Amino acid sequence: MGNFPVITVDGPSGSGKGTICSLLARELGWNLLDSGALYRLVGLAARHHGVVLDDEDALVVLAAHLDVQFETSATQNEVTIILEGEEVTQTIRTEECGADASVIAAIGSVREALLERQRAFVSEPGLIADGRDMGTVVFPQAPLKVYLTASAEERANRRYNQLINKGVGASLQTILADIQVRDARDMNRAVAPLKPADDAITLDTTQLSIEAVLAAVLDQARHKGLR
Ligand code: DC
Repeated sequence: MGNFPVITVDGPSGSGKGTICSLLARELGWNLLDSGALYRLVGLAARHHGVVLDDEDALVVLAAHLDVQFETSATQNEVTIILEGEEVTQTIRTEECGADASVIAAIGSVREALLERQRAFVSEPGLIADGRDMGTVVFPQAPLKVYLTASAEERANRRYNQLINKGVGASLQTILADIQVRDARDMNRAVAPLKPADDAITLDTTQLSIEAVLAAVLDQARHKGLR
């Protein structure tokens, strides 16, 4: 692991991690690791190669040899994801890919196979790491660990509004039920369950604007001498 600082941001789906992490990366001029994308990519690679989600050995091979490039634009705002030569930036964002990722992510040997790949994202001048176990498992030495949360209802509302704004029909009840299933699986799995690190700062974003959350994290970064 390179000797550059890492800010970890963990939390459940819809807590605002993705948005906050890309804003933090842009504000600080740091690199970004979207670790959820790696689990989603293993799921998509499995579909491409006809691997079923309970074939642990085959999934480990896919995870260890994942042929993926994250291409970041000059503004650090847009990341294009290429899997085996094909652009999959939007494809991996579907609910289907998220659900597959959550199942795959419960397999310890797959997590192990992705560990060094995640740590290799540490580079100058620093890294913002977005995920579920960034502060607890992948970067336990990180000088600043943030845990973002929000009520399941608020997270479902956010997801619903995102889909409606994209012109995609959606049911709030179904989204809420899916979020509850995903939370339960991510929080109760035996390996690297979703939980705040002992030294994490927890922010409940249910009533907070994106600007307020960003300001709070930047304030913590300043306190730690990271900016
Ligand atoms: O953040 P996301 O929705 O893209 O993550 C997709 C799934 O991957 C999520 O349900 C749990 C899993 N995941 C994980 O177990 N560990 C991570 N560091 C990131 C994601």
